Amino acid sequence: VSVVAVSLPNQERLAWWVNHLAELLPDRRVLAANDVTDADAVDYAVVWMPPTGMIAGWPNVKAVISIGAGIDHITCDKEFPSGVPIIKTIGPDMTQRMREYIALHVLRFHRELPDLERSQKNSTWEQVFTPTAPNRNIGILGMGHFGKACALTLRDLGFNVSGWSRSGTAVAGIETYNSDGLEAFLAQTEILVCLLPLTDETSGILNAKLFEKLPAGAKVINVGRGQHLVEQDLLAALESGQISSAVLDVFTTEPLPKDHVFWTHEKITVTPHVASLIDPISGGKIIADNIGEFDRASIS
Ligand SMILES: NC(=O)c1ccc[n+]([C@@H]2O[C@H](COP(=O)([O-])OP(=O)(O)OC[C@H]3O[C@@H](n4cnc5c(N)ncnc54)[C@H](OP(=O)(O)O)[C@@H]3O)[C@@H](O)[C@H]2O)c1
Repeated sequence: VSVVAVSLPNQERLAWWVNHLAELLPDRRVLAANDVTDADAVDYAVVWMPPTGMIAGWPNVKAVISIGAGIDHITCDKEFPSGVPIIKTIGPDMTQRMREYIALHVLRFHRELPDLERSQKNSTWEQVFTPTAPNRNIGILGMGHFGKACALTLRDLGFNVSGWSRSGTAVAGIETYNSDGLEAFLAQTEILVCLLPLTDETSGILNAKLFEKLPAGAKVINVGRGQHLVEQDLLAALESGQISSAVLDVFTTEPLPKDHVFWTHEKITVTPHVASLIDPISGGKIIADNIGEFDRASIS
């Protein structure tokens, strides 16, 4: 019988996923990775942050399915066997959640809500005049599934949106830049959104050199991965005023340690990796469907 092995660091969630996938995949044996006794029988692995070398220990694995949109938590395994396909999981609800999160924080910055909140704390009546959306430049790093969806949401709200990606693929109503156009893209970006995947090329991209190329007082929203950001460089840029505010949803260490300076920094908003969580019910269905589809494609 085909075995689907499931691995997640959180034991409670692991049990839930094993039971849920077992219901959705009645023709397969769904097992927690630790319960696998015959390594040769595993043909699919459904994982979040699998331990190093675990996948390499299953020589017949046909595909590895990420319980989420990112795959860096799998590719960071130095022993990951080359040539094994990785399937990421994205549902329409995840795209919608990301659109909402980005719209929320862009609008909050656009209308200078942090300043207004500070004024309220001091009981100060201080009106802030803000430009309208067509006069506000938003730049999105990464124009893949999520980047493009968010760019279109912001465009529909009236913002002047630009997108940067390797290819610079055209998107209606968005000014797109390719790898070579990073400087020009940054020079006009007032609110920067990072929606890149974490790779060797993108790791540490949100650094002092990049911040200097933004207009003074720019704002940053990072929903990619914590490792995109050089933390000390952000703190220095906030101190100098080169960056005026930041929203961070992802961190190098998650959960963000209790004593981390970001928690209490007055110019940083911290959210606990909630921009677009996978819905376990619809996500499970997508994973089960993807396994079936992958099987059918590899047979035909
Ligand atoms: N915080 C959260 O809750 C949350 C939720 C979901 C996802 N995420 C993060 O969002 C990331 C993006 O997801 P996605 O599904 O939108 O990814 P995707 O569809 O693979 O798109 C990636 C985009 O980044 C561009 N890119 C990749 N490497 C680049 C480089 N070196 N230079 C310039 N552009 C580069 C790609 O360019 P091309 O178009 O030219 O290939 C593409 O436009 C995920 O990997 C994950 O880290 C976070």
